[in-house]
Amino acid sequence: FVQKEISFSLDNEPTSDEQIEEVIRQIIRRSMRTSSPYFHNEFFAGFDEYGLIDSCLTEVLNTNISQSFFSLLEILMKICPVFTLMEKEVIQVSLKLMGYPIRGEGIMTPSSNISIMYAMMLAKKNVLDQVKTKELYGNVPLVKTDKFSRMDMKDLTKVLKKVKMQQKIPFFMNATAGTPVFGAIDPLRKIYDNCLKWKMWLHVDVRIGALMFSKCFQHKLRSIERYLFFILIDIVRARWNPHNMLGISIPISVFFNLVVIIVLFQHLIIKCPKVDAIKFWLMWKARGTSGKVMSMSLDDNPASTREIETVIRQTIQFSVKTSNPHFHNQLYAGVDEYGLIGSWLTDVLNTSQYTYEVAPVFTLMEREVIQKSLELVGYPLMPEADGIMCPGGSISNMYGMLLARHKILPCIKKSGLFSMESPLACFTSEDSHYSILKSANWLGLGTDQVYKVKTDEFGRMKVSDLKRLLIKARNDGKQPFFVNATAGTTVLGAIDPLPEIAAVCRSESLWLHVDACLGGTLLFSEKYRYRSDSVSWNLHKMLGAPLQCSLFLVKGKNTLYEVNCAQAKYLFQQDKFYDVSWDTGDKSVQCGRKVDAMKFWLMWKARGKIGLTRSVEQAMSCAEYFLKRIKETAGFRLVQPHYQCCNICFWYIPPTMRNENETPNWWEKLYCVTVEIKKRLILEGSLMISYMPLPQKEIGNFFRMVVNCQPPPTKSSMDYVINQIEKVAVDL
Ligand SMILES: Cc1ncc(COP(=O)(O)O)c(C=O)c1O
Repeated sequence: FVQKEISFSLDNEPTSDEQIEEVIRQIIRRSMRTSSPYFHNEFFAGFDEYGLIDSCLTEVLNTNISQSFFSLLEILMKICPVFTLMEKEVIQVSLKLMGYPIRGEGIMTPSSNISIMYAMMLAKKNVLDQVKTKELYGNVPLVKTDKFSRMDMKDLTKVLKKVKMQQKIPFFMNATAGTPVFGAIDPLRKIYDNCLKWKMWLHVDVRIGALMFSKCFQHKLRSIERYLFFILIDIVRARWNPHNMLGISIPISVFFNLVVIIVLFQHLIIKCPKVDAIKFWLMWKARGTSGKVMSMSLDDNPASTREIETVIRQTIQFSVKTSNPHFHNQLYAGVDEYGLIGSWLTDVLNTSQYTYEVAPVFTLMEREVIQKSLELVGYPLMPEADGIMCPGGSISNMYGMLLARHKILPCIKKSGLFSMESPLACFTSEDSHYSILKSANWLGLGTDQVYKVKTDEFGRMKVSDLKRLLIKARNDGKQPFFVNATAGTTVLGAIDPLPEIAAVCRSESLWLHVDACLGGTLLFSEKYRYRSDSVSWNLHKMLGAPLQCSLFLVKGKNTLYEVNCAQAKYLFQQDKFYDVSWDTGDKSVQCGRKVDAMKFWLMWKARGKIGLTRSVEQAMSCAEYFLKRIKETAGFRLVQPHYQCCNICFWYIPPTMRNENETPNWWEKLYCVTVEIKKRLILEGSLMISYMPLPQKEIGNFFRMVVNCQPPPTKSSMDYVINQIEKVAVDL
């Protein structure tokens, strides 16, 4: 029925704004009302209206919390100082709420399943010092529960004894405060005593952490605070943010009011003529430790509406305007306006992507997005191939490695790496993204098992070196299973020679994964297109979907499901009244999964493939124009003569240095000049562009210009970069 009413198909032609408006109305009409007072299906329901404002705001400000850029000021400051400080405050108050020491740590994660993975990594480190470089053995023994669904202590003792007899090392204990079905709280005190005795890490999965806000009910969880030594609390959105108990329903009238406010914000931000970097710096300066300019503190008493309004204005004022045409600092930049509407809608309709019953419209949308992307990549369509939207390229790359491992040794899923005769080895280029190392760590292979293949002068994988390392790995007693090729490396934008690498993988029966997080967007353009086998693609990079919007695509029927399924009966009942193959949740490593497909779906629907292709070609032709200008303009020098993607790397040599001998000292000076130019640009507030070294090529600091599709670049915005650099460096 839903499929009949809404046309999910994504076509070549753009759709008119009137039709898009009608589609949005249908989406709202046909989506689950999780904010209704009658919705009791999940752990999340309605949501807090302030949470919604914040969510919409972060989409508009479209930034990433992981990258630092203020090293030049010798301040450990992040690209999003406001959000960094906010996250810090949220973690601190959460630690306090749980009764933890303030020196504890925390991180916001995309789902509680991922939180548990974080905890397990820390626990592994706790037990094995060299865990990063050694493989981990063992599987997960399940402890029985009593009639109230709480962990049975007698069975725990039995299980621990059995584990010891099998000569395994018990290292991690997960206790639950609020089990999914009965909401039972495991006997934390007794479990803690066992953990002390066995020197195990205790992780508490606190789904009902929101109880800590209540004087009447916090006694149910109070015992947590005593177990300070090993416990890492679950500071996760899915556990005690709007998703779960804290949410309230939001009347539709508020939604409309919010949209009006937000549209004004967007206007303010996108039209904003300056990058306001200097303001963060001033803010930091003025703020010191007492928080005078913008108070980040979260207190017991509610703030007034006026204070909230002030804080919202300050958040906008002090945040980096990534949608500014002069923001070239990262691999992402502005947001596509249709993507932004998609993002707000998914926030307002607040649902999780795991079952068809709570996300009927979004399930169909994700399916269409995956089908169209499979087609672009040149894969067979579903069900012969599959895909999933996940929280970022690093996780997509981890999916690739996980599936490859499952293909070669499916028994690992149950018995752990214990069943392996020789360590598994994987291969990636020295210029590839560090997430491959992280995946090897998280999947228990160990980073020693990652062989770094040399690259040529343009940063592309050398196939001859790949062949050499495959022989070496076998001589080292390891079993090669996975090759990661990159289509658009992070710094140089290089595309590895995919056909040659594919031929090696085919002849050696290796899984070939292509990290096209950056370069995948070129698939829209026939001119810049390439063919590949299995793919990670970040739509939030070059294409301009709001952060985060990342796709993992794989050839093969049902593979994602087979590798990841845990068959939780309380969520994925097989006797539902509809076809349960529409429930996509068990093919993901997450439980709750934010709806990301809508952003890309609406972008494609509105612009058509034709429109997206045009955006890509406009960005690439601006990148080519920029390259030409750099070649022709006195004082600019390219790090390499040509580029395959949307990155262009260069130096600026100030007039005083142009006729000097290029000795090692001269180069050292040029690397320092690059840092100085960046500092001046930021303090001036006129342009944001990143710099970096490339140690594997023995190259020091240079500028990396990234040309993205949003906001649409122009020749004059390219000229502006050159003019600004010349202007600030005039006296160097
Ligand atoms: C080539 C490449 N792969 C993967 C990633 C990781 O993507 P994410 O930041 O979404 O985890 C990046 C990020 O810059 C990248 O450049």
